[in-house]
Amino acid sequence: MNSAGIVTVSYIIATILFILALSGLANQETARRGNWYGIIGMSIALLATMIGVVERHYEILLIALLVGGSIGLFVARRVQMTQMPELVAMLHSLVGLAAVAVGFASFMDPEKHFAGVELTIHDIETYLGVLIGAITLSGSVVAFGKLSGRISGTPLTLPGRHWLNLGLLVGAIWFGYEFVVQSAAGDGMEPLVIMTGIALLFGAHMVLAIGGADMPVVVSMLNSYSGWAAAATGFMLGNDLLIVTGALVGSSGAILSYIMCRAMNRKFFSVIAGGFGTAGGSVAKGAEEMQGEVVSLTAQEAAAMLANAKEVMIIPGYGMAVAQAQHTVNEITKVLRAKRINVRFGIHPVAGRMPGHMNVLLAEARVPYDIVFEMDEVNADFPNIDVSVVIGANDIVNPAALDEPDSPIAGMPVLECWKGAMTIVLKRTMATGYAGVQNPLFYKENTRMLFGDAKETLDEVLKSL
Ligand code: TAP
Repeated sequence: MNSAGIVTVSYIIATILFILALSGLANQETARRGNWYGIIGMSIALLATMIGVVERHYEILLIALLVGGSIGLFVARRVQMTQMPELVAMLHSLVGLAAVAVGFASFMDPEKHFAGVELTIHDIETYLGVLIGAITLSGSVVAFGKLSGRISGTPLTLPGRHWLNLGLLVGAIWFGYEFVVQSAAGDGMEPLVIMTGIALLFGAHMVLAIGGADMPVVVSMLNSYSGWAAAATGFMLGNDLLIVTGALVGSSGAILSYIMCRAMNRKFFSVIAGGFGTAGGSVAKGAEEMQGEVVSLTAQEAAAMLANAKEVMIIPGYGMAVAQAQHTVNEITKVLRAKRINVRFGIHPVAGRMPGHMNVLLAEARVPYDIVFEMDEVNADFPNIDVSVVIGANDIVNPAALDEPDSPIAGMPVLECWKGAMTIVLKRTMATGYAGVQNPLFYKENTRMLFGDAKETLDEVLKSL
């Protein structure tokens, strides 16, 4: 077999491994295997490309691999579990940057030998690659800023922002036409550069306009964009594997965005248009406006309450990840189950800061899969629950989502724990969650607050149990 043949076969094997990786990742029990398929597939793809596709400048490739690989390794080892979403956003921005760089390089390549229709097709591929890449780049950088708290989560609602978006879109189409026409005459750099500026502005504006609680949709959407940017790069370079891999990432990201929208009860286009829920504005309804009294309890009292229960529902949120309390949660679960108490976990689709965040933590702590349920599977059951334990969660158990039509999280389904006999909420203060909305749950008669770091408090609960 010649080298082109080996590359083709390697690419087919890598593609199959990527598909197996995706299907493996769909299930907790097979996720580890899925990861391995992905790692092996990517190694094969890289090796085949380095050996079979690259023809010269090996030294530059090696330096790039060493520098990029070292930075990747350093960042991956240092990153905390709570910073994963930011890291993912940052990595998406790199895919966008790569697509822009490859687009410009491919346009400026003195050795390219396209003419006529072929040139037009190549120019369209280049233009689309740079366009999607630049939107992904600036959108992901802003998403990184929002997720890491460097940029405010409040949506930026410029007057006439829909017109601004429309103007930018029309501009991008117009300069695309200009680019193709000018490129045929041996020029075209100017429209390409202007469009890159427009696309960067569009990406940043799009994500800036999205409110805190809708960020999950944006993260998965940018994931999808990064895939399409990679696919466009594949077209530019005539690399089949990049096209297939990009399409896999692009379509799975799109499916995830759809699932996220359904979970948040949002329409995809409303989220993209941004400024959700800012109309009436109970965004920061003051705590003084809240009805009722906040009643706290001690870890010992919480332990006694749990020991006397028959049905317990644990609702983990972002705070469990911050406190790294999952192992203690598992220990408490074991003790309660040994007392023949039925313990279940209710997982909200956007709990934490990335899709599947809570499932990953619980799996790491070896909580049995068969007692971990999705929101829809347990929500109707709360009237039968004796004690719900909310661990560092806030927005996902906020009744305002159902009761206050002008709340920024209005319409988002939440875990309705207040319908049970008693709810214990573990958090450090009365602070709001990611969406910045006050939570009436804390003031309900059948709610008890257990203040403190979740890990420290749960350690005490475990000791008392
Ligand atoms: P949040 O609403 O953010 O609430 C987390 C709570 O944890 C906070 O109120 C905080 O209160 C508490 N907390 C923080 N550190 C703690 C610690 N060490 N010990 C105890 N408590 C601690 O989280 P959630 O309920 O999981 O909801 C997720 C939110 O994030 C939603 O608004 C969602 O839209 C958004 N979001 C989700 C994603 C994905 S894909 N899942 C991505 C981006 C954004 P104190 O400060 O008082 O302790």
